Amino acid sequence: MHKATLPKELETTGLGKTARKDKWLFEPLWTGLGFAIFVVYSTWGALNPGPAGHPYYEWGPYLSPFFSPLFLVKAWPDWWPKILRTPALFVLWAPLGFRATCYYFRKFFYRTYLLDPPGCAVGEARSHNYKGEKGFFIYQNLHRWFLYPAVALVIILFYDGVKAFFFADGFGIGVGSLVLIIEPILIALFTFSCNSFRHLVGGNLDCYSCSFSNRARYQVWGKVSLLNRNHMFWFWISLGWVGFSDFYVRMVAMGIWTDWRIL
Ligand code: FES
Repeated sequence: MHKATLPKELETTGLGKTARKDKWLFEPLWTGLGFAIFVVYSTWGALNPGPAGHPYYEWGPYLSPFFSPLFLVKAWPDWWPKILRTPALFVLWAPLGFRATCYYFRKFFYRTYLLDPPGCAVGEARSHNYKGEKGFFIYQNLHRWFLYPAVALVIILFYDGVKAFFFADGFGIGVGSLVLIIEPILIALFTFSCNSFRHLVGGNLDCYSCSFSNRARYQVWGKVSLLNRNHMFWFWISLGWVGFSDFYVRMVAMGIWTDWRIL
């Protein structure tokens, strides 16, 4: 926030200086810690696909979302670093790019990791005028383009989710089936509550009532706007569930957990 817009009594100088009396530090702390845990786990998970004949990213009809869609390389070139020989490499750029340029992500990233500022009406780490998405941060404009692979991924993850109900002996329901069908639902709620998607369906129109298609777009825009109100919630719950889905498949594939078959 630009300091010139603050009431006099809330003007601050110096990192963390504020007249606020509430627990403003709580939000940057939990979001920073939560995201750091996810980054560490997902990096470790992506770089540890398991042995070639017994991968940890799939078990029966289950496939970890970190590795979907599955691109298998028959023989990596010798010069390719061993640590990067993982199918997740071909997949994770899309969801990570989508999340790392998300409008909500920017808010908590600036607050938590750049302390710029750490909260509304709280002194920031650097004293300068906000310059928007310029300079280094210009890559954030790619968000509207990352939306397309993100939507494609929703479809692929739904396919995986449905496939998780079809075992070698036919249709069935395992705990993993439920984990893997809840996951694309949450990812879809996150993806379709995106500000760029909202603009895609209802933006760039001067008149909503002028034609049938504009009226239809207005209806969809209204629904997306409802979802958009809780975009932060969908961001976190889908992020956590994706990590848990990979963890569940990994535990079952490693034989540490037994997949309980409900049906
Ligand atoms: S995914 Fe958050 S604004 Fe697009």
